[in-house]
Parts: sequence; C-alpha cells; structure tokens
Amino acid sequence: MYAFSSLLLFGALAVQSVFGRPDDVRAKRDAEILKRSVDSFVETETPYAWQRLLCNIGSGGCAASGADSGVVVASPSRSNPDYWYTWTRDSALVFKGIVEAFTQSYDPALQTQIQNYIAAQAKLQGVSNPSGGLSNGAGLGEPKFRVDLTQFTGEWGRPQRDGPPLRAIALINYAKWLVNNGYTSTAQSAVWPVIKNDLAYTAQYWNQTGFDLWEEVQGSSFFTATSSHRALVEGAALAASLGTSCAACTTVAPQLLCFVQSFWNPSQGYAVSNTVNGGSYRTGKDANSIIASIHNFDATAGCDAATFQPCSDRALSNHKIVVDSFRSIYKVNNGISQGVAVAVGRYSEDVYYNGNPWYLATLAAAEQLFDALYVWKQQGSVTVTSTSLAFFRDLVPSVTTGTHSSTSATYTGIINAVQTYADGFVNVVSTYKSASGALPEQFDRNTGTPIGASDLTWSYSAFLTATARRAGRIPTSWNANGGKTLPGSCSGLVVAGSYASATQTTFPASQTPGGSPTATGTVPPPTATGDCTEVLVTFTERASTSWGQTIKLVGNHPTLGNWNPSNGVALSAAGYSTSNPVWTISVVLPVGTALQYKYVNMAADGTAKWESDPNRSLTVPSKCDGTSSSDTWR
Ligand SMILES: *[C@@H]1O[C@H](CO)[C@@H](O)[C@H](O)[C@H]1NC(C)=O
Ligand SMILES: *[C@@H]1O[C@H](CO)[C@@H](O)[C@H](O)[C@H]1NC(C)=O
Repeated sequence: MYAFSSLLLFGALAVQSVFGRPDDVRAKRDAEILKRSVDSFVETETPYAWQRLLCNIGSGGCAASGADSGVVVASPSRSNPDYWYTWTRDSALVFKGIVEAFTQSYDPALQTQIQNYIAAQAKLQGVSNPSGGLSNGAGLGEPKFRVDLTQFTGEWGRPQRDGPPLRAIALINYAKWLVNNGYTSTAQSAVWPVIKNDLAYTAQYWNQTGFDLWEEVQGSSFFTATSSHRALVEGAALAASLGTSCAACTTVAPQLLCFVQSFWNPSQGYAVSNTVNGGSYRTGKDANSIIASIHNFDATAGCDAATFQPCSDRALSNHKIVVDSFRSIYKVNNGISQGVAVAVGRYSEDVYYNGNPWYLATLAAAEQLFDALYVWKQQGSVTVTSTSLAFFRDLVPSVTTGTHSSTSATYTGIINAVQTYADGFVNVVSTYKSASGALPEQFDRNTGTPIGASDLTWSYSAFLTATARRAGRIPTSWNANGGKTLPGSCSGLVVAGSYASATQTTFPASQTPGGSPTATGTVPPPTATGDCTEVLVTFTERASTSWGQTIKLVGNHPTLGNWNPSNGVALSAAGYSTSNPVWTISVVLPVGTALQYKYVNMAADGTAKWESDPNRSLTVPSKCDGTSSSDTWR
C-alpha cells in the first residue's frame, strides 16, 4: 500500500530541534521531500478540484443536471447518503471561495457563476419553508432546499443561523469588487437587497439557539457566532460605501464580538464549539472552531485573539487541542507523534458513518497554519505566549515565550516547522484521496479508504482555499481590526429588521475590471443628520408579566406584523426585574413611517392579551440616530 507507507515516512518526521543537532540534517531533508510531494499534489489536484467544484453548480455543471442556475449541489450523491440538495451554508462557503478567486484574477466565467448564484439566492430568500417566510425573516434560517429552489419539507435540524451571515459575506465581497471597479450602481441595485435581508436576519436572530454547522446540536455554535459578527462588521462598511447604512449592524456587532469571547475556555485553552443550555454532552473540541478561525482570517488584524485570528495564541492553542483529540481515536493516526500532521474529523464523539476523518476538516487544519505563516512573515516576528506555548513546543521543543524576530534562529525554526506541519495535513489528504483525485466527504478511520458523499463540493472548496493560502494568496480584509469594540459587559441586544424580496437580479454585460466609475464618488456618504432611509427605533415597555408570558410589539407595519400578534416582534426581557419590569426591542423602520402600534401580552399557549385603546402612534423621524419610545402597559 503506497499510500500508507508514504504517510509513515512523513510520520517519522517529528521536528525534534531547531539548531545544531545531527537530526537536523535528516529533518531538513525529510521536510524538503514532503514539500516537493505536496507541491506536485497541489499542481495536479488544483485543476481537478476546480473542474469538479464547477461540475456541482447548476444549471450547466456536468454533475448538476436538473439543478437550477446558480444552485450549488452539496454532492451529486443521491443515495447513501442523499446530498442532492442545496445548503445555504455550504453554497455560501463555496461562493466565498469563488468570489475570492475571481477578485484575485478576473475570469468572466466565474463572474457569470457569481451572478447566477446571486439571482438564485434572491429567489430562494422568498421561498416559504418550514422555518418560516421572508416577512419577518424567519425563513432565511432554513438550512436546505431542493435543487430546483423549492422548499424541503422533511424533518431536519432547523433553523441554522449561519446561512444568512455566510451568504452575506460571500455577496459583500463581490459587491466590494463591483464598487472598487466602478460598478457601484450594480452593487446597490442587484446585490445589496439580498445582503440587506441576510444582515437584518443576523441582527434579529443571532441571540436565539439554532443548529450547528454539522446539523446536530441545538444551541449556540462558535462558528455561527464568529460568522455573524464578521457579516455585521463587513456589512456596515459596505453599506457606507454604497451610500446607505446598516444601523442594526453597527448596533449589534459589538454584542456579537462580546458573545464570541464567551466560548473560550481559559483553563483548557480551546474554544468550546457548541454551548447548550443545561450543559453539554460533548467536550466541544470540534473542527467547528478551526473552520471559524480560517473564515475570519484578516491579515490586517495580525494575531488578534478577540476575532480568533489564525495566528492568535487562542486559535493556535485551540488548533493543538482539537487536532490532538483525533490522534488516538483513528487507526490511520496510529504512532504519529504530536506536532506531526494527522487526519482530522469533525469531533471525537462523532458517530455519523462510524465517525471518520473529513477532508475539509483536515484541510482546515492546514489552512489555519498557512494563514498564520503569512502573517508572521508579514510582521517579521512570531510571538509565543503562555497560551500558545504548548502548540509551539510540539514543533520546537526549546521555544520560550516572547517575541522572536525574523533575525533569530528561533523564528526560522518556528517558520520551517509550522510550514512542514501544515504541509503534512495537505499530505494526509493526498495520501487518502481517491486514486482519481476525487474528494468525497470522509475517509475511513481504520483503512483510510475514501467514503461518504462523493465529490463533496465543500471538500474541493476547502482544498482550493487551503492551497491558495499555501501559495500566499489571501482574502481581502473585512476590517476585523476596525470593528473591534468590546462592550464592558455582554447583552443579548437584537434589532428587528424589515425584509423585502430582492427583485432586481439582472446584471449589465461586460463588467470587466477597472470599468469607468459609474456611481463611485457620486454616492454621498451617510451623514449623522440626514440621508438615512431607515433608522433604529427603540421601544421600551414596562409591563409586569408572569412566567411564560412574552410582550410583543404589534402594529401597522410588516415589521410589526401588520396587526397580527403572531407575526409581531417579541421584546427582550434581559433587563427585567420585579421592581423595574422592562421589556425592550430596537426595530429598523423607514424614516417618515406613521406608526400605529400596541403592545400585546402573549401567553405560552399563544393567547394574546391586547393593551387597552387608543392605539399608540409615532412618526419615525428622518435623523440617522433614530428615536425611542418609553411606554407603560395599559
Ligand atoms: C444571548 O446573549 C447573551 C449575552 O451575550 C448570552 O449570555 C446568551 O447565551 C445568548 N443566547 C443565545 C441563545 O445566543
Ligand atoms: C387601532 O388600529 C386598528 C388597525 O388599523 C383598528 O382596527 C382599530 O380600530 C384602531 N383602534 C382605535 C381605538 O382607533
């Protein structure tokens, strides 16, 4: 078995020391052999991965016949397992990668794919489904649809709240390209309306539980939280560049960053990937957190720990702990020491298909390290803290805490060792891929045989982004640094949004790079005093309630349920006490709206008790900082 023996060769490549030992010569030679082997795998696999990835996108994709235009099929597999569906998360991650490649190297065929995707998502947002509809945004949390863009009505782990922020991120990055190349009006008319719905969803629903990216745990997921934070930060910046604003984004983003911190387990040194009310039945060591780190990578943020940058001490400690959790449980990892790459799965307690390593998880482990290398080289130093010391010690046993500058031998030792470690993960994938180069979902924990859904689109995307990083190609900044305001204490502040079907989804022809600016420069930036089309209105109602009762805001606007209490906006009781029974909610409303509203006390069984007459009224002012209303139950 060629595959197994080649893994053993690299398994022996524990990088024992940095300087001056006889081992060193051998380690250096082995590292060189590994590098060349990975180079050659990347060279042959890259065109293949692109081809297979595009095959899974409708309607023209060679393996996607029957799927609508712009629809990413998760895998062509229609039985054992049946993945012949389109998932909002998977599709968004795949298109995030496509947009990244497109913005780095203009390609009209990819641009057509991106345009088709946007048109498909605009349509999908309006498809009512078991999670709900578009009127109050709830339907945007539906995880999967049929490939003809109709709803899937079977039982499923729903909602999944990572889909909308991830789709926003993918689209924002195309919108940024449009703006930078002079097509601001296209971004405004055809892309922003889709993004806007997803940002509104994120700001409104982030503080409710949902299913994680593996569709198993109902709770709060680290990956969902980091993705939501990024979308709101990036969304606020895009809105400004389009001459509009996203008040909900700027209001809620700091609370999401605050929430992101709460997943960190300081005594164990990893991010607990899922938190569930009433405790967790798992350790929370999960590739979820590594995937969170790579999808929040922003080289301009350096090694910032709050946004879990790949080279941050927290993310590196987490990398070690998550990777190590797979060392002893898979036979394919037998005898491979710490600091040498192994096969990585989703989480050690996994039982799906008996619980196996996944290509996309193993590639994510590589990608995080390539990201880190990029930033260290850019900074010309590596900082080792007490939090990341154990990660570095596996690679360079003599390393100590402190900042090691590029002139030091320790720096060189770390860079070389991390490079070899990262290449090792790519080599694991090379070792256990199908002979043809095909990447399904998983490979067998005992034999390494490829298994599970064939040609998983996400596997190819994970390969392409990891190896782009290896080649030094990185994503554009999402302003991770600039969006970094941590409130003193966390709150569950949400903002109820307004949703509208995105109807204008055709794209002008020939939007090539550097086109003559159409609207750029003519778009007035939003000012503090005017020009806002929608603003935040904060409603506070003092109402004593008993357990199980909720106060809702209901009125003459779609966001307030058009007088239907079941579609009204639930207020938050986060600030409630017996002496001060405060319910609050912030709502985004169009300026000038003449609101009529009332509060309704909803019992647990859905019975509505209305306030007494008359209706309350408020006209939404046209100033960007919005307004508030303080009311008492009557
Ligand atoms: C809501 O936010 C608060 C404050 O960060 C947090 O303690 C709570 O766990 C969050 N709940 C959910 C379901 O996100
Ligand atoms: C409050 O508004 C509703 C819906 O327009 C209307 O049916 C009702 O008569 C109004 N109540 C009063 C007292 O005006």
